[in-house]
Amino acid sequence: MERKPFFYDITLRDGNQALKKPWNLEEKEKIFNTLLELNVDGIEIGFPHASNMDFESTKYLASLAPKNIVVSGLARTKKEDIDDCNKAILEAYKPRIHTFVTLSPFHLKYVLNKSYEEVAKNAIEAVKYARSILKKDGEIEFSVEHFGDCAENLDEVIKTLKEIILAGATIINLPNTVERYRPKHLIDMIEKVYKALPKDIVISVHNHNDLGMATATTVESYFVGATQLECCLNGLGERCGNTNFYEVAVALHNNGIKTNLNYNKFYETAIMISEMSNVEIPEKSPLIGKEALAHRSGIHQDGAIKTKDMQMGAYRPIKPSLIGRENSEQIGFTSQSGKTAIFDIISGANYPITMQEAIRITPYFKQKAELVGELNLDEMIKLYFDTVFNVNGPFKLIAFNELSKDNYRLNFEYNNKLYEIESTGNGPVDACLLALKQAGFEQKLLHYEQKALDEDKLGSGAYAMSVIYFEDKNKNQIIARACDTSTQKANVKAIFNGLNILNSNI
Ligand code: KIV
Ligand code: ZN
Repeated sequence: MERKPFFYDITLRDGNQALKKPWNLEEKEKIFNTLLELNVDGIEIGFPHASNMDFESTKYLASLAPKNIVVSGLARTKKEDIDDCNKAILEAYKPRIHTFVTLSPFHLKYVLNKSYEEVAKNAIEAVKYARSILKKDGEIEFSVEHFGDCAENLDEVIKTLKEIILAGATIINLPNTVERYRPKHLIDMIEKVYKALPKDIVISVHNHNDLGMATATTVESYFVGATQLECCLNGLGERCGNTNFYEVAVALHNNGIKTNLNYNKFYETAIMISEMSNVEIPEKSPLIGKEALAHRSGIHQDGAIKTKDMQMGAYRPIKPSLIGRENSEQIGFTSQSGKTAIFDIISGANYPITMQEAIRITPYFKQKAELVGELNLDEMIKLYFDTVFNVNGPFKLIAFNELSKDNYRLNFEYNNKLYEIESTGNGPVDACLLALKQAGFEQKLLHYEQKALDEDKLGSGAYAMSVIYFEDKNKNQIIARACDTSTQKANVKAIFNGLNILNSNI
């Protein structure tokens, strides 16, 4: 049978204790309710003996906890802590006393200045006492603070844990209070404890992120026997924080492990927690960072766009909607980007563009981006108009006038030479092309279309857009556009844009 991970949230305790301004009751309640919406399995609400505010908020929130949620308070292995904790969580349906002490040789020697035997004996007594005062359906969690530093006395720790279990603890938490070594170092230790303890005991992990590997360690801990995963929203917590809740949940999800969590609430929760904690989300933060789903290199953009609506993306670990980040896969244009990005951004903003045009105008965009960095949407649209609707080149249209029915005069400049040619044609397009032919610039027109361009796109006024398809000397189809309030002018401008496209260097 698959072992379902038990997501034990410690934002309100470990996260809160590291804030520059710890949350008040109202704020804690808001986060508590959010945790319920996320459907976590358990919540550590506070450290009741630490302050009056912590006691009151733990007591109040414990009384609000629904029947299916475990709630705990933290307590040192001291009678006064355990008493306060018990009083604070009394009204919960599923109360838990979480007591802890270090069993690490380093910490015992340099911080507590006590012998292993003395501390272990006290821990066993504390668990026994907690069990004796806690109501029957409550649970005791025992944490070996600094478990990650217990490699040298692991056998001794396991022996103590067996006694702690006999004293009444059913959840054994193995914190990496300071992350110092490689994940495997801790994973091996956790696996050893898991194998040594009775199978009905829940093994828990609580990893701090001092070397940035807490997520990896927590995820792998699950696969060697840890069921309870202690995590913090936004990775809050002492120093570099605790294990990031979202990262662990998503990594397990991606590996086919089912949880009870509402993943689609993750993103909005992350934003809320960042605001409430005054701790910014780094833009490169996995999953929730502003940049987590942004693509700037041409190759990545191409893959990202081709797999945009798929469950698995070429360059993303999840479908953004999984965590409630709809439409957040961003394509940004820099000098490193390419045609696919131009096509995606311009067509995404509802402007007409073909891939052929995107290819043609890419060098102009790159040139500009080399100077200014990433182009914003307004800059891109301006450049798009400059390069698609006003194509620069050797041909310059000066005037095109109707002299009488079907008779026109075309004035233009080509390589600094002025031309004035009159022609008679079947409509302005025909007349303009005939005039150009007379001047020695014959163009093969395949067909042309007249379209209305959304008024808003060019400011005020209704605009006509001409789209003209030419054939170049290699028999390639070239598309040229232009727009104007007059259909006739739009047609002639499009012809000149086409001439410049066919005769430009890039
Ligand atoms: O980091 C730690 O060891 C703790 C314990 C109190 C569980 O937060
Ligand atoms: Zn901690």
